[in-house]
Amino acid sequence: MDKLIIQGGIRLKGEVKVSGAKNSVLPILAATLLTDETCLIKDVPHLRDTNSMLKILRSLGKIVEFDKGRVIVAAGKKSSYIADYKLVSTMRASFCVLGPLLSRFKQAKVSLPGGCVIGVRPVDLHLKGIKALGADIQIDSGYILAKAAKLKGTHIYLGGAFGSSVLATDNVMMSAVLAQGKTVIESAACEPEVEDLANFLNKMGAKITGQGSPTIEIEGVKSLRGATHSVIPDRIEAATWIIAALITNGDVLIKNVNYRHLGALIDKLGEAGVKISQKGDSLHIKGHKRLKAVNITTLPYPGFPTDMQAQMMALMSVTDGISVITEKIYPDRFMHVAELNRMGAHIQREGPHAIVEGIKRLSGAPVMASDLRASACLVLAGLAASGKTAISRIYHLERGYENIESKLKDLGAKVWREKE
Ligand code: UD1
Repeated sequence: MDKLIIQGGIRLKGEVKVSGAKNSVLPILAATLLTDETCLIKDVPHLRDTNSMLKILRSLGKIVEFDKGRVIVAAGKKSSYIADYKLVSTMRASFCVLGPLLSRFKQAKVSLPGGCVIGVRPVDLHLKGIKALGADIQIDSGYILAKAAKLKGTHIYLGGAFGSSVLATDNVMMSAVLAQGKTVIESAACEPEVEDLANFLNKMGAKITGQGSPTIEIEGVKSLRGATHSVIPDRIEAATWIIAALITNGDVLIKNVNYRHLGALIDKLGEAGVKISQKGDSLHIKGHKRLKAVNITTLPYPGFPTDMQAQMMALMSVTDGISVITEKIYPDRFMHVAELNRMGAHIQREGPHAIVEGIKRLSGAPVMASDLRASACLVLAGLAASGKTAISRIYHLERGYENIESKLKDLGAKVWREKE
């Protein structure tokens, strides 16, 4: 296992290009199971999670090629409807092969993904929606066995205790595209990645409207064809670079950004005193010496993303004043608090809240990454800290940030890897 070493205190300067969105590409790759025809997906980020999904597709009988950001998925000789525990357990997003497999083969056997460090993460909403379409669902030895001779369109309310669910919306949408008649999903997730999946499905011949809003309507069709699609830019990566520029008092041009997808973050940063200039698909971020502490509450899109909570906490830990950060999606997603405190931060956790008292400067320390976004938070903290920070279990970072080390180096950061 590798650890990432960061020599902090360097202002980031230069240009960085955002990669395709991880949370778009994973369900889009799963959607290729809905056809035997060939699909071409462009702007695919080279990530550990992408490789995991490609492995699953291969195990289900697809022939997959991945080269220079382009993935071609074609039908193999023999297909399977069984997604194995070993593959599904590596990544929760792999559970969204359930919908396409069931639609296509009238049955699916998919391992339950299990919990993870950021919380329990149940799949009840996925199952509720798929059942409503007429599937029989059994749980046996850690696997979901889903069967349906015919899926039938219906009205489904998909809201849960923590609001809408991204992957449940994806799964139900992919179950409904080949169902008989019309399906209406209410309280659907509005995330841009759900919209991107729906746009890809429509290119394949699906009839979906309302994507990006809480009500999605799907008119079932008989079959889907192959399609070509470019994945949207990763809004969480873009947002992470914005914080990287701010926390190092740097001067960074971030390219390939969809400004519209960053509304909640840009609004909060505005409240903190940050001025962002946008030109086309680029953002120019110049460091601000004095920012103001702001309170943050994570919510489903278009609210402040839970996937940016940890990175924003890193910024608030070195911003004058007190910031209250409330996590409404995953109330236990605070593994980074203890690590930031090891670097000198003053953060106190109270249930789903973290109270951050900004200090002048963090100091480098050995810390441990616990999950993907917590790793990004520690990288940001390390960039801002005095001295050396050594982040162990850095493989988490490779799940969601393409070429992060070389992108950091191009911006002037001093980072390198060492064996644990
Ligand atoms: C997706 C994102 C992840 C992001 C999360 C929330 C992907 C691949 N991952 O994960 O990066 O952090 O959205 O924006 O797109 N829930 C239930 N029952 C369910 C499903 C979810 O109660 O059946 C709860 C979850 O525990 C959580 C909330 O709903 O509290 C939202 O989770 P969800 O949107 O489903 O997250 P994912 O789609 O797994």
